[in-house]
Amino acid sequence: MRVVIAGGHGKIALLLERLLAERGDQAVGLIRNPAHVADVQGAGAEAVVCDLEAASAEDVAVLLSGADAVVFTAGAGAGSGALRKDSVDRAGSVLMADAAGRAGVRRFVQVSSMGAGQPPRPGSDEVWAAYITAKTAAEDDLRARDLDWTVLRPGGLTDAPATGKVRLGAPPVPSGTVPRADVAAVIVALLDEPGTWRQTLELIGGDSPVAAAVHSIS
Ligand SMILES: NC(=O)c1ccc[n+]([C@@H]2O[C@H](COP(=O)([O-])OP(=O)(O)OC[C@H]3O[C@@H](n4cnc5c(N)ncnc54)[C@H](OP(=O)(O)O)[C@@H]3O)[C@@H](O)[C@H]2O)c1
Repeated sequence: MRVVIAGGHGKIALLLERLLAERGDQAVGLIRNPAHVADVQGAGAEAVVCDLEAASAEDVAVLLSGADAVVFTAGAGAGSGALRKDSVDRAGSVLMADAAGRAGVRRFVQVSSMGAGQPPRPGSDEVWAAYITAKTAAEDDLRARDLDWTVLRPGGLTDAPATGKVRLGAPPVPSGTVPRADVAAVIVALLDEPGTWRQTLELIGGDSPVAAAVHSIS
């Protein structure tokens, strides 16, 4: 399988690229900083420079030629302001989905966040509110498309080692944390499972082996 990953130098992305490469899939990481090429290649993936805040859907569609799936796991990240929540977390996903449609790549896994799908709580910090608003808009955009999408909303991300065990289900799942390494493993399992198409799923650490968790909601 050839999988193009938007946000290809992100923490989840690098773990995902390793997992895909280990099982013989071709991972392609889209990055904005050429200095990140070696890290992406070190994870076993092809690195392609593509700034999601500058590229057109036509440009990205060319990069998706021959791909079997798109994973959107870009984000403006901690320290960014409200404007970049919109230009990366929302508009970056919209761009990738537009490009997937143009390129005929139907499978699309979007990494969203727990908390999306509802308006931010009154009194929320302005940047948090912009983040949740952007993630919700990105989800709504994707769900309206004729693509084989899955929206994955992890809880708080940690850099703990993989446990191989998660709690995955339709919302609402109680709030919690999950290692990025387990998120990456869940994404691989989602890519393999057509039964997860057109589902919105929440993810935290739990007791179910990843394969069983994905199978149970398929
Ligand atoms: N933190 C949490 O607890 C949490 C919880 C739930 C969901 N999430 C979501 O999970 C996803 C992945 O998390 P993560 O920890 O792996 O994120 P991460 O390490 O911050 O990676 C995000 C990547 O997006 C890239 N990016 C930003 N702007 C870009 C642009 N214009 N063009 C191309 N790439 C761009 C960044 O590139 P640079 O390195 O060049 O900046 C970075 O490599 C994000 O969507 C995040 O919102 C996070």
